[in-house]
Amino acid sequence: MSIRHFLTLCDFSPTELEYLIERAIQLKAKHRSKQAHTPMQGQVLGMIFEKSSTRTRVSFEAGAAQLGGSAIFLSPRDTQLGRGEPIEDSARVLSRMVDIIMIRTFEHSKLELFAKYSSAPVINALTDDYHPCQLLADIQTYVEHRGTIRGKKVAWIGDGNNMCNSYINAARQFGFELAVACPEGYEPMQSLVEQNADRVKIFRTPSDAVAGAHLVVTDVWASMGQEQEQAEREKAFAAFQVSPELMNKAAPDALFMHCLPAHRGEEISTDMLDDQRSVVWDEAENRLHAQKALMEFLLYGKQV
Ligand code: CP
Ligand code: NVA
Repeated sequence: MSIRHFLTLCDFSPTELEYLIERAIQLKAKHRSKQAHTPMQGQVLGMIFEKSSTRTRVSFEAGAAQLGGSAIFLSPRDTQLGRGEPIEDSARVLSRMVDIIMIRTFEHSKLELFAKYSSAPVINALTDDYHPCQLLADIQTYVEHRGTIRGKKVAWIGDGNNMCNSYINAARQFGFELAVACPEGYEPMQSLVEQNADRVKIFRTPSDAVAGAHLVVTDVWASMGQEQEQAEREKAFAAFQVSPELMNKAAPDALFMHCLPAHRGEEISTDMLDDQRSVVWDEAENRLHAQKALMEFLLYGKQV
């Protein structure tokens, strides 16, 4: 079997993605009932982090341990990656030592280059352009609460960032309609919007995008690497806050998600996470289960 990577949701077929969501739900049930499932015995996950993380780091590290394997945290501060060792060389060396690798970095092209030279499966744990692991957790969460997302309407409010781009891929792969509300100049990747024009529409006011939506999602206004733009972004996004009042304009059974970390008083009102429509804690937990399903699939294929 040739080696597979998970750099965006488009690396997997819709059927494979549906399988991953179902498998994540099964692995969650196993974990909750304390049934051991340890196919990764003796295997190692390499974790390269060039940006900060709480959820991604802990869910991958705990996930590898729960699957019977282990994980090594690698930061540019204390590896040769941070001292300019070429990505191609690092990929060839690391992939001879570990069995699967996840990377959180800046340019998506760095991840693609690493994957090209890696003899082990590579997982995108966030780049400036995409965050596909978060989408697995988000879709799992929607399915657990409301059933299939196929044919539903999702509203993305705020920055057209890495999460928004991944929502566009998800709209295609999981078959839903996506309404993006963002200020001018903060649109998601233009080529993606054009390629998915049948599923994605851009709006300039949040209330237009959320009308009738079954899921409302937002994210920080300044992503990692954009800290110096914080003040100008606060101005640009001032009208793009998600609140219970905005949620009232969505479908009656709408859910609210945020990949976290969140900034109360900026992209969400101070009371949004405590609203009964918010499922952010389930969403965060599902990173663990979805990524266990993902690692199992990349290492051993589909479990029948
Ligand atoms: N949602 C997410 O990826 O969180 P971390 O930055 O804490 O990993
Ligand atoms: N868009 C955010 C997501 C963090 C999980 C960022 O890239 O910083």
